[in-house]
Amino acid sequence: MHAADEPSHLSAYEAPGGGRAWPVVGIVMALLLAGRAGARGAPNSSPEVSISLQERKAAGGRAYVGDEACRACHEDRVRTYHQTAHANTSSVPTRDSIKGSFSSGANVLRTANPDLYFKMEASDKGFFQTARLRTSATLAYSRTERFDVVVGSGRKGQTYLFWDDDQLFQLPVSYWMDPGEWVNSPGYIDGTANFDRPIAARCLECHASSFESRAPPENLYNKTSLVLGISCEKCHGPGG
Ligand code: HEC
Ligand code: HEC
Ligand code: HEC
Repeated sequence: MHAADEPSHLSAYEAPGGGRAWPVVGIVMALLLAGRAGARGAPNSSPEVSISLQERKAAGGRAYVGDEACRACHEDRVRTYHQTAHANTSSVPTRDSIKGSFSSGANVLRTANPDLYFKMEASDKGFFQTARLRTSATLAYSRTERFDVVVGSGRKGQTYLFWDDDQLFQLPVSYWMDPGEWVNSPGYIDGTANFDRPIAARCLECHASSFESRAPPENLYNKTSLVLGISCEKCHGPGG
């Protein structure tokens, strides 16, 4: 199911709705940082050994401490960098980070199938996408999933991911900045409700700072390992 066609997601973005297959894949989330940083100070009868273990961990890509750890001494850099598309290429869902509207009137995507529509809703439990399919005059089927990860800074467009346990999937509705509308996710067939596209590590390699894959299956992750956005450490290496 993952896509052999290489740069297709970029061209798919050039022509949203243009029906090309996307390389399936995926992303992110991350909060563990404080905990990780704290663990370093753990007592150890042999401090030198503990230091070298820490270095090895860093070399293995695990001792990520997060941009906040850089702020105290590089305040300017952190503040300005956080406004860039790199820093925001993936993020936690918020009213700000999700560019699409949840206001009534602007929160529905109708499809080629007159019996199927999608609705985007916000509540105190988060942001949700519901597919509603009328199957007869009296029956309807619906499925609701939460926006768990936002991919795309919003310069051009965004797509959204949800967790099913520790597996990451793409939501069927994305957002395109020009003309500013909810759209079928790139490569999805208009008039269908597909919640089964797994997000494999490739997306995360470019759109997130770090993560631990537990594949197979290809979209199984250690949830708490996901660090969203391109952080200082993606280029400068793990701060730990
Ligand atoms: C406790 C203060 C402090 C913290 C926290 C800190 N730095 Fe620094 N950093 C410095 C100082 C001091 C320098 C040296 C500046 C100089 O040489 O003029 C520096 C230099 C650097 C340099 C340039 C190194 C070079 O060779 O020129 C980079 C890159 C850097 N820091 C990245 C980071 C990143 C990324 C983080 C967060 C993970 C971070 N720093 C956290 C104090 C800090
Ligand atoms: C090889 C690196 C790479 C991979 C793999 C990759 N992307 Fe991208 N993606 C990019 C770059 C670079 C851009 C910005 C392109 C541009 O704006 O011209 C981008 C743009 C995007 C955007 C629009 C961003 C915006 O700010 O408007 C979205 C959404 C996106 N990618 C999602 C994905 C998803 C989902 C996957 C996995 C199926 C994926 N990408 C795989 C590098 C990658
Ligand atoms: C996309 C990759 C990338 C990211 C992300 C990034 N940097 Fe850098 N940074 C660089 C490169 C490359 C240089 C060296 C620039 C040069 O050629 O002098 C650099 C230089 C620096 C320097 C030394 C600057 C100087 O004037 O000597 C510091 C300090 C630094 N970065 C801190 C940070 C901090 C803090 C963050 C996060 C807020 C960050 N960087 C994010 C790539 C990056």
